[in-house]
Amino acid sequence: MKKIIAPVFLSFLLFFSFCTTQQNEHQQTTLKQSANYPVGTAVGFKWLKNDTTARKIIQKDFNSLTAENCMKMYAVQPKQDSFVWKKTDYLVEFCRQNDIRLHGHALNWYLSTPKWVKAYNGDSSALEQILKNHIQTYAGRYKGKVASWDVVNEALADETGGYRSCVWFDELGKDYVARSFKYARQADPDVKLFYNDYYLESDTAKLETCLKMIDEFQQKNIPIDGIGLQFHLYIDHPSIDAIENALEEFTKRDLLIHISELDITFNHHRSEPKYHQFTDSMAMVQKQRYFEIVDAYQRIVPKEQQYGISVWGFLDKYTWIRSFFDIPAWPCLYDDDYQAKPAYFGFLKAAQQQ
Ligand code: XIL
Repeated sequence: MKKIIAPVFLSFLLFFSFCTTQQNEHQQTTLKQSANYPVGTAVGFKWLKNDTTARKIIQKDFNSLTAENCMKMYAVQPKQDSFVWKKTDYLVEFCRQNDIRLHGHALNWYLSTPKWVKAYNGDSSALEQILKNHIQTYAGRYKGKVASWDVVNEALADETGGYRSCVWFDELGKDYVARSFKYARQADPDVKLFYNDYYLESDTAKLETCLKMIDEFQQKNIPIDGIGLQFHLYIDHPSIDAIENALEEFTKRDLLIHISELDITFNHHRSEPKYHQFTDSMAMVQKQRYFEIVDAYQRIVPKEQQYGISVWGFLDKYTWIRSFFDIPAWPCLYDDDYQAKPAYFGFLKAAQQQ
């Protein structure tokens, strides 16, 4: 009899501890339930439509969505005056059904300028008309359906403190940015309008120019509601002090603050990869970094200015960093097999402690 009792008892113990672990995981509230502000993710149109496991995670954790690519200018107006609404319509409907906020990305981004605009050789007033028509047709059609827009994305150059050279800046001058905001406001009086950019937390020249631009906008009544800080961060750069400084500077300007494209990589985008595998200890360091970023946002940005935190994809499997920079990367909250990583619990822990 004793011989039977011991293994039975042991398996019972094992089963019990398994249940407790399972139960703990189930007891965790999800990201959107824990945070006092919207928690968003970028979505690839194809996988949103076809990957049911990924969709379930979206429904569980997120209440804000940004299109990773399908709302960019080349996708929406691939030929002059011929607009393609199908994918945006699909997103609007998905968001409506799931009670999710749709953040529009982006009305103007130099990297998504379609070929026909780049090849354009009319005069600058005709180009201005193209800018105005794109913004007004697009923002007008989705009035009341898109909650906010990145009106202009990445207009500032890296490290020089200047504006980025692109067809818009080269032909229309720096005020194309301000005029884009005016056009968007004319098309939709209630939508929230954001300027969105990267490395504002690490490139001091870019930060200074951006703050100056915002100060000018506010003096001249250019309708800007918020700043999107992309936060494509490295595990070791920039420092949390630099991140907090950027959050403080924009908070002072009374803007809505959206961490708009958060991800955290180990290999630096523009150098040889040092990391070839994602280890347990890397996962723990990443967890702490996610915790610190979310915690800084909650401490520094007052509730009424918190537009939310959006990650740029939540599955390592679909991260843009792997394809865009051609480096090994595990920057997201979920791994390649749809399992929540320690990073997820770092974010969650910070959100739960508010
Ligand atoms: C990226 C997408 O994730 C990629 O799939 C695409 O090839 C290039 O654009 N900043 C932005 C986003 O504002 O639009 C970019 O998205 C990532 C950097």
